[in-house]
Amino acid sequence: MADAAEPTVISGPQELRAAVLAARGRGRRVGFVPTMGALHAGHVSLVERAAADCDDVAVSIFVNPTQFGPHEDFTRYPRTPESDLALLTGGRVRWVFAPHADDIYPPGWCTRITVDGPARGLEGELRPGHFSGVATVVCRLFMAVPADAAYFGAKDWQQTLVVRRMVRDLGLPIEVVVCPTVREPDGLAMSSRNAYLAPGDRQRATAMWESLEVAARAWDAGQASSAIERLMRGHLESRGVVVEYAAVVDAESLDAVRPGAEARALVAGRLGATRLIDNRPLPPRQAGGG
Ligand code: PAJ
Repeated sequence: MADAAEPTVISGPQELRAAVLAARGRGRRVGFVPTMGALHAGHVSLVERAAADCDDVAVSIFVNPTQFGPHEDFTRYPRTPESDLALLTGGRVRWVFAPHADDIYPPGWCTRITVDGPARGLEGELRPGHFSGVATVVCRLFMAVPADAAYFGAKDWQQTLVVRRMVRDLGLPIEVVVCPTVREPDGLAMSSRNAYLAPGDRQRATAMWESLEVAARAWDAGQASSAIERLMRGHLESRGVVVEYAAVVDAESLDAVRPGAEARALVAGRLGATRLIDNRPLPPRQAGGG
């Protein structure tokens, strides 16, 4: 069955694994898009990219409890199964993997994957255990969906580094493809959490993207990363964002910028009870600037 309009919804990891392996055995290239649902155009862009590269696409929808801290929004994280399925119908999605928590974490489960290196700072520092939860579930999902390639969004830049490092370090046989961030017309990065924003905060949220533009201009003008970080923070604070970090770092290691290497500007902040993150690339330049 090629290019089915109606995806098959599967909750059992073994059943899906068998279906994916059978498709690959017939020479089909399989792409995988892991998500936590509440799908929006950012997720859809990953699905479209996977569909363009692959014969069959699997999308997982699982709000993963282990990547949320005890005081985070796991219980109120948006869950929109009907509209998610509608978005995935009529395209090239062959399987939707919608496991129950027990399918992913069997009773008595006590194994976690911990990545160091790129998982250490920024989100890793502010959200202890978050990337361990992400790495563990992504590895588990990769076992259920033994695809040729998995598609992730640059929106969660640090997450892409953590997943790529895990795949490299554990020798997982899957290619990791990172796709560009999809934005609202006013620049706000699409996110399932944008639905939480009160109208006034929604307007102020454009400060996240603006602060990254401020960073790019200052970077092009040759300013030092510490000065750029102050500019970003100042812009965010002037718009009422409670800043968690505003960083200009090496794009791969997230350590200090290096002359001649690509850098990345990353921001995290809160508007009311809503936490937002965003980032953008900064091209290599000769003066590193400390
Ligand atoms: P979730 O936040 O649902 O995101 C699923 C994928 O969509 C991630 O790779 C994320 O980076 C990407 N994405 C989100 N917003 C995007 C945007 N505006 N443009 C492009 N891509 C975007 O990230 C997770 O879920 C989870 O941590 C997961 C990897 C599924 C593990 O539980």
